[in-house]
Amino acid sequence: MDQSGYDKTDFYDLFTVYGRRTMFTTLDKETHARRRRILADRYANSNIMRGPALAGIEERSRHFAELSLHAYAFDCVTHHLFHPYGTDSLRNESDAEIMREVTFDDSIQNRLVSFYSPAVYAIVNPVLAWFAKPRETPLADDFVLDTAAKTDAAHFTLLARMHERQHPYPPDTKDEEDRLSKESGMSGGFDALDAAAESLDHMAAGIDTTGDALCFLMWELSMPRSLHFQERLRRELLDNAAKGDDALPFDRLLFLDAVIMEGLRCFPAIPMSLPRVVPDQHWGRTPRADQQQQSNGRVIDGFFLPAGTVVSSQAYSVHRMDTTVFPDPDTFNPDRWLASDGDSDRKRSFFAFASGGRGCIGKQ
Ligand code: HEM
Repeated sequence: MDQSGYDKTDFYDLFTVYGRRTMFTTLDKETHARRRRILADRYANSNIMRGPALAGIEERSRHFAELSLHAYAFDCVTHHLFHPYGTDSLRNESDAEIMREVTFDDSIQNRLVSFYSPAVYAIVNPVLAWFAKPRETPLADDFVLDTAAKTDAAHFTLLARMHERQHPYPPDTKDEEDRLSKESGMSGGFDALDAAAESLDHMAAGIDTTGDALCFLMWELSMPRSLHFQERLRRELLDNAAKGDDALPFDRLLFLDAVIMEGLRCFPAIPMSLPRVVPDQHWGRTPRADQQQQSNGRVIDGFFLPAGTVVSSQAYSVHRMDTTVFPDPDTFNPDRWLASDGDSDRKRSFFAFASGGRGCIGKQ
């Protein structure tokens, strides 16, 4: 959807960090594309599968069953963002406290009401505050603000990338800060607060998604109906490990890949609607003659939608609605990903990481 020019809606104002727009919360595609181009190389498979980046993940996987999947996700993500300043929440209680603070932050309910219904929010806010507080993550803030200031993080980390693209001078006044903040969107550079905001955003984006996805998948694999899949997966991993130096890297294990894809298809960690605005231009391409008259909107599935209309897709439905692509869609069946027939249709309909330019940068 994004590659054809749909901007994000102001729904994403709910997620700004330290008053800054991050890559995730940037609304317009040009500003977003500039920032994404800078950060994307640290999330490329070639960067992730390299020695020091992978070693940290392997080290953590040895301890992950000891405590919690979210702690494992937290430690892996912070390793990738900050190494050697990543957390060790699987074994260190103060790091675990930060993980719990981010994971159990329920302020989104409060923020959703304020976005969708400001009038109701004004009335019920005092009551709502009893159930869902404003975003308060002081431990995570301290950790991120301290860590984002480190200048010697390993080369493969996101932090190193942001330091490479730091603003040459810090702002002295609020006006200067506003100007730089605007410019950072333009030039793609980062000041200290941008780097901290971007770090907190990626940290939060990686913990619950990865932790929940692993949790749902392990639950499914533990069910009697899926034990034969669990056994096949175990066999593939053991056979591969037995090959010693000839073992394939994890991203080339076919059944493992099929199991993960099917887990994310059945139980997408972000199943909800992701809103976008219908653009008024044929962004990035010249309209065909028959499209000229629609240049102030788009036709989707035969319906004309004027520019500015808010549309959305959500993984839960996309993964179930076309039964020619995903037959028997509620059944967990990794084998569907191994069939050669319909492979490109399945991949095109896979929406757990969204898709296009605003899709998940951390999906590798
Ligand atoms: C199973 C794991 C994950 C799932 C299912 C997932 C899913 C998603 C989805 C659906 C989006 C689009 C959100 C939207 O349009 O509002 C997204 C964006 C994003 N994700 Fe993930 N994610 C996962 C893991 C991660 C990890 C590990 C990181 C980083 C360490 C990460 C960082 C991000 C960022 C920064 C964005 C915003 C990208 C942009 O706007 O250009 N995600 N993710």
